[in-house]
Amino acid sequence: MRLSVNIDHIATLREARKSYEPDPLFAAQLAELSGADGITVHLRADRRHIQDRDVSLLKEIVKTKLNVEMASTNQMVEIMASIQPHQVTLVPEKPNEVTTEGGLDVILNEAQLRQSIVRLNSHNIKVSIFVDPDLDQVKACSKIGAQAIEINTNRYATSKSKKTRSEAIKMVEDCAKLGIKLNLEVLAGHALNYKNVKPIVKIKEISELNIGHSIIARSVFVGIERAVSEMKALLEV
Ligand code: PXP
Repeated sequence: MRLSVNIDHIATLREARKSYEPDPLFAAQLAELSGADGITVHLRADRRHIQDRDVSLLKEIVKTKLNVEMASTNQMVEIMASIQPHQVTLVPEKPNEVTTEGGLDVILNEAQLRQSIVRLNSHNIKVSIFVDPDLDQVKACSKIGAQAIEINTNRYATSKSKKTRSEAIKMVEDCAKLGIKLNLEVLAGHALNYKNVKPIVKIKEISELNIGHSIIARSVFVGIERAVSEMKALLEV
């Protein structure tokens, strides 16, 4: 299973001082040297962490795969059409949220999302859609022509009882199986950490995980190289 490391919080720390350090470009290079299979950043409308310049420079230096999370707006689509990252993940975005709060409602926004996918694909950008583990939403992703889905693991990761946890993992697994059946590449992520990742790794239909907060938090104490390589080791089946 591949690991894409979300480095937004390196930029969060930099923006806390409106400084030039720590530099997300260094983080991306060290993460790749430590075994990351991809680098993910979220270019938010409020530019609270990652800036447009970061994305342009990351496109130049990332040697694995650059995945950019963004809202499906015309402005964002045009920025990505000019930078051309390898992949875009469409996510819902609310101005005051601490982090992405849930998956996109693909059924409700079908026409608008389809337009973004066509435009991004015309620039050779693969499109993944962040969805909650809901079979109808997965079907809608296939219908509108997405290449991949990222299944939201937040409910699994934050469930308190064994029962809700096993129900949540079953939903992730069922959606992953449906995704593969519909010829979608299946990714997963959100709120995964060193303690809860293993049951997700066992779902063989999932080919890649997007993990940010837990890796960057650990890297403060052990360094980004060790934080990434320890997570990468957990992703070995
Ligand atoms: N996937 C998506 C779509 C996200 O928005 C985020 C958070 O930026 C992640 C994965 C990573 O989540 P976490 O930081 O909890 O690992």
